[in-house]
Amino acid sequence: MIAYVEEIARFEGQEITIRGWLHNRRSSGKIHFLTVRDGTGFIQCVMSRKAVGEEIFESAGHLSQESAVIVHGAVRADARAPGGYEIDVTNLEIVSPAQPYPITPKEHGVDYLMDRRHLWIRAPRQQAILRIRHEVIDAVRDFLNSRHFVLADTPIFTPAACEGTTTLFPVQYFDDTTAFLTQSGQLYNEANAMALGRVYCFGPTFRAEKSKTRRHLTEFWMVEPEMAYATLDDVMTLAEGLVVSVVERVLEKRQNELKVLERDTGKLERVKGPFPRVSYDEAAEILKKKGLPFEWGGDFGAPDETALSEEFDRPILVHRYPSAVKAFYMKPDPMRPEVALCVDMLAPEGYGEIIGGGQRIEDYDLLVQRIKEHGLPQEAFEWYLDLRRYGSVPHGGFGMGIERVVTWICGIDHLREAIPYPRMLYRMYP
Ligand code: 4AD
Ligand code: MG
Repeated sequence: MIAYVEEIARFEGQEITIRGWLHNRRSSGKIHFLTVRDGTGFIQCVMSRKAVGEEIFESAGHLSQESAVIVHGAVRADARAPGGYEIDVTNLEIVSPAQPYPITPKEHGVDYLMDRRHLWIRAPRQQAILRIRHEVIDAVRDFLNSRHFVLADTPIFTPAACEGTTTLFPVQYFDDTTAFLTQSGQLYNEANAMALGRVYCFGPTFRAEKSKTRRHLTEFWMVEPEMAYATLDDVMTLAEGLVVSVVERVLEKRQNELKVLERDTGKLERVKGPFPRVSYDEAAEILKKKGLPFEWGGDFGAPDETALSEEFDRPILVHRYPSAVKAFYMKPDPMRPEVALCVDMLAPEGYGEIIGGGQRIEDYDLLVQRIKEHGLPQEAFEWYLDLRRYGSVPHGGFGMGIERVVTWICGIDHLREAIPYPRMLYRMYP
């Protein structure tokens, strides 16, 4: 019977088959210890000369790392084994011996590993990260699906900017048209919300960010919920609920992976609502007190976000930034028009912004004015203005960057490991 390592406990005492690859091999004369991985986990397979015969035993003794193998054997509980179980091998099929493998347990530089990303993802740490990424995505979908949200996909080829014109990737679209890769599905999301009430899009987004930081990819995945009849407060409550739920789920289902990553899970256990709600003004005060050269009116840089999030043991919701530093669609606070009804969620431990969103302008005239002020071509936004012509209502939503969240939850220090094939300023290979 074919078994998967992640559910090996179910097969204690039974004869099973594992189909995978040789991760590591140690030998002590009469016994080979083969660590085999099947994609779902790693397990030690103990092979004795007596049990498999001379020929198989000899060939196993020369097997190289990452050779494809099929192992047959009996599952035995062993308290000393990492996963609590081992396999006593009765037979081994060599499906495909591997050439000398370029990634060995020794330390390799990051560039070396990134050039071999297609192989590096086989390493235990990388697998753990990608499994947590999967869990995060699954948790996001479950959370939204169980709260009346409908997944409505938004286009990737778009005719206009959503998040400012400086980070657009142009694409030749047939002969005489330039399309841009989407920076955010938000504008279409707003239309979808007016049709379906509560919606989300979840896909790749693109930013031609020339920044070479540990927080920026040029292609990243974003989930964007959008709600009709919603205020900034509703947006903050939803963002908080989503993040609490995602962290809870990873803690519940991915303890093994968190262990592989040596994540301090105590820090994640503290991620419970309510999250502190800090106004931009208060945040600016905190930065001044900490001695950072921050002036009211500017956007927070990465060092500012890091300094702010260090002050709290859970994510914080920073709201009401100056309108001048935010996107054209942000609704001004009626009590104080110089600030916008927007919010950024900053992750703790210095990880910085993981969510950005807010309430949108629902007034037609004001929106037209903002499009002009931002130097955007009104023709391209006529359809978007229609949403203010035909039954406009208060609405809002946010975008959560998946790689930012995964990086934080995993406690790793660079976004490049939070996606299988990162795209960055200087990296498009493999
Ligand atoms: O704050 P941003 O730019 O917000 C928007 O795009 C809104 N239109 C979303 C909305 O309201 N529907 O981006 C949202 C999130 C950020 O908080 C961050 O997590 C992530 O997207 N993000 C990036 N992640 C990786 N690399 C980049 N270059 C990113 N830029 C933004
Ligand atoms: Mg932002």
